[in-house]
Amino acid sequence: MDIKQCCADFYQNDLIRLLFGDSMHPGGLGLTKELGEKIFLKKESKVLDLACGIGTSTIFLAKEFGCNVTGLDLGQKNIKIAKTNSKNAEINKIDFQVGDAEKIKLESEIFDQIICECAFCLFPNKTKTSQEIFRVTKKGGMIGISDIVIRGDLPVMLKEALFQFICVLEAKSEQEYEHYLQSAGFSNIQFYDKKDYLLRLIDDIKKRLFAAELLIGLGKFKIEFDIAKIKKTLQEIKTCVETGLVSYVLITGTK
Ligand SMILES: C[S@@+](CC[C@H](N)C(=O)[O-])C[C@H]1O[C@@H](n2cnc3c(N)ncnc32)[C@H](O)[C@@H]1O
Repeated sequence: MDIKQCCADFYQNDLIRLLFGDSMHPGGLGLTKELGEKIFLKKESKVLDLACGIGTSTIFLAKEFGCNVTGLDLGQKNIKIAKTNSKNAEINKIDFQVGDAEKIKLESEIFDQIICECAFCLFPNKTKTSQEIFRVTKKGGMIGISDIVIRGDLPVMLKEALFQFICVLEAKSEQEYEHYLQSAGFSNIQFYDKKDYLLRLIDDIKKRLFAAELLIGLGKFKIEFDIAKIKKTLQEIKTCVETGLVSYVLITGTK
């Protein structure tokens, strides 16, 4: 199976949904709101939520800022759930589409702002994705990305575990993210460190693992992951976050 589809399938897995919760990124909707404010979302904005998952942020942004939001994700199951969720929320300024961030099947220069939470690190071809994001952004429009940064060499074992457990194949440093975005044409790239939110998410996942173990014991989940190994990996990631080798950042930029 192609690596991108494999990654989308990973985030549609019931256990992964249980561990992350509905908002599949550190900081939850509080950080989504902060990101929306930093890129000046308003009622008139036409926004793309790239790699929207099950649409939790998409629906929240439309409600909170009153803007029109398109949610796009490679996972068909995610988009199906997102459509049901938006119907239940009775929000009509939203539409959802299945699509690949590396080849966005939408017209050029149609969005005022693009949000992409905890997904840029997953895209294998960041040059192509940055170019696509730039293409669909209106002149003067803004991007708001939140993502994992890795500021040096991780132990090989940890790198492999990160890929296996959270599909983080391609997280980069601030300098590398800046390079991709600037090369695509964005300027005034700003970074805001949100390490504490990542630490909190790690602790939350640890707690949810206990619930997962219970459900596995009851036969409600069949998993191919080794829970003991996940716990060990989480502890190792936590140490890397505490030392600053790994962090979570908000990134903004202007076209
Ligand atoms: C960690 S989840 C984040 C979901 C959502 N942005 C959130 O914060 O709740 C990553 C999402 O990226 C999506 N994804 C991965 N590769 C993609 C691609 N090439 N194009 C579009 N979506 C992709 C996955 O399907 C998954 O829903």
